[in-house]
Amino acid sequence: MKVPIAVIGPDFGDVGERLGRRGHSVVVVRECDELAELIAACQSGAARVAVVAGGTADVTMTLVDRLLAVGVGIVCLTDDDGERRRLDGLGAFAASVDVPAEGFEELVAAAADHATGPDAMRASSFSFVGALPAATAVGRPRSEVQSRAAHGEGTGEEPSEPRGRIMAFWGPVGSPGRTTLAVNAAAELVAQNRKVFLIDADTYGPSVAPHLGLLDESAGLAQACRVADQGQLDSQALDRLAVPVVTQGGELRVLTGITRADRWNELRAASLSAVLDAARRTADDVVVDVGFCVEADEELSFDTMAPRRNAATLRVLEMADRLVAVGSADAIGMPRLVRSIDELAAAVPSANPDIVFNKVRRSALGRFPDRALRDAWERFGPARPIVGLVPFEEETVDAALLSGQTLLEAAPQSPVRRAIADLVCSPVQRKRRFAVPSARAGVRRPR
Ligand SMILES: Nc1ncnc2c1ncn2[C@@H]1O[C@H](COP(=O)(O)OP(=O)(O)OP(=O)(O)O)[C@@H](O)[C@H]1O
Ligand SMILES: [Mg+2]
Repeated sequence: MKVPIAVIGPDFGDVGERLGRRGHSVVVVRECDELAELIAACQSGAARVAVVAGGTADVTMTLVDRLLAVGVGIVCLTDDDGERRRLDGLGAFAASVDVPAEGFEELVAAAADHATGPDAMRASSFSFVGALPAATAVGRPRSEVQSRAAHGEGTGEEPSEPRGRIMAFWGPVGSPGRTTLAVNAAAELVAQNRKVFLIDADTYGPSVAPHLGLLDESAGLAQACRVADQGQLDSQALDRLAVPVVTQGGELRVLTGITRADRWNELRAASLSAVLDAARRTADDVVVDVGFCVEADEELSFDTMAPRRNAATLRVLEMADRLVAVGSADAIGMPRLVRSIDELAAAVPSANPDIVFNKVRRSALGRFPDRALRDAWERFGPARPIVGLVPFEEETVDAALLSGQTLLEAAPQSPVRRAIADLVCSPVQRKRRFAVPSARAGVRRPR
């Protein structure tokens, strides 16, 4: 059976002619003038492979991901070696414009196979099934025919295996303390001499920057996603976009969040995966603060290629090695956490959240708040244990927030700091958990 292709770009003419001279295995079903037309042809099921012949600069990771999401592969033709390498990195199948007809047919067949293969299914943003990071798999062609073989193995500069762990802080609506825990957990990890990236991926109310006293308006994560979308994010680029925040425990690298909630579509799933992957290639820990909502909005819309409101949150939760679900320890926060754990299980079946209650206090739970909370959780909560209880300490947390300091710096002996440190300490480190790193002269954080 012939593979139907939709084509765009000024350089298809010659390839088309060469194809016409042999009994070929592809059939052109649509010649498009606009990218939107090409996408529509693919989305409608008319084409199994999109061909971009020349003018490939508009091919981004998001486009490849969107096509893969509907089972469509992509072949790009360009004479620029560097551009071919970029396209390979995005998951497109690239070749030069003078590719012989036979080679072109092989590329199309490989792209079509790849788009319906298991890697593509896992890579697509529409897959909620696995923890496999999309960027390691997004359309990364494995076939012998891929142009990687013909054009070299890329830059070879990046460490190949990710080494860091992704730890996500998530929880229901109602400000249970996701950001407070994420920022301070990251600071504790830095103090353990670990290289840490802190990423603000909350698309509803990003607030890592003010928690750290940063007057940063650069939206580092959105910038990193843009670079990743072009297939140009490596560790050095990521380091440049991150704000170095020097704490008493060591240096934290921070990717600040979007500056306004209505800019959520700057954090697309495919490029965010690439950012997370790049971060864990260089860091020991990647701590991510995410928004509360895990609603999968493609269920509400027939436009499966449209950007999804909660794609960033869902992608982080899918990729997280450890997911901390933070609930507020009161009569409103607990049932909210119970319900949201159910929603999480439906949206991200692979998720295995660690339950942590924050703002634990007598005024909300009675004389013995810890016991009251554990009893109530046993009766009403899902069958998973509470792994941490963080006390409510208004003055301490407010003072740290006011000074833009972490609790490790502002109140190292406070129970709230100790409880957060316990969440990320190994047993050996737990023995030394109250040790306070000495301040270093000249330490300043950017403002
Ligand atoms: N253990 C605590 N004790 C006292 N105050 C706390 C504690 N944890 C968080 N807070 C305060 O609660 C408020 C909300 O905290 P935070 O911003 O961390 O919540 P969030 O879940 O990230 O909220 P958002 O929905 O805005 O993302 C802040 O004013 C913070 O200082
Ligand atoms: Mg927050």
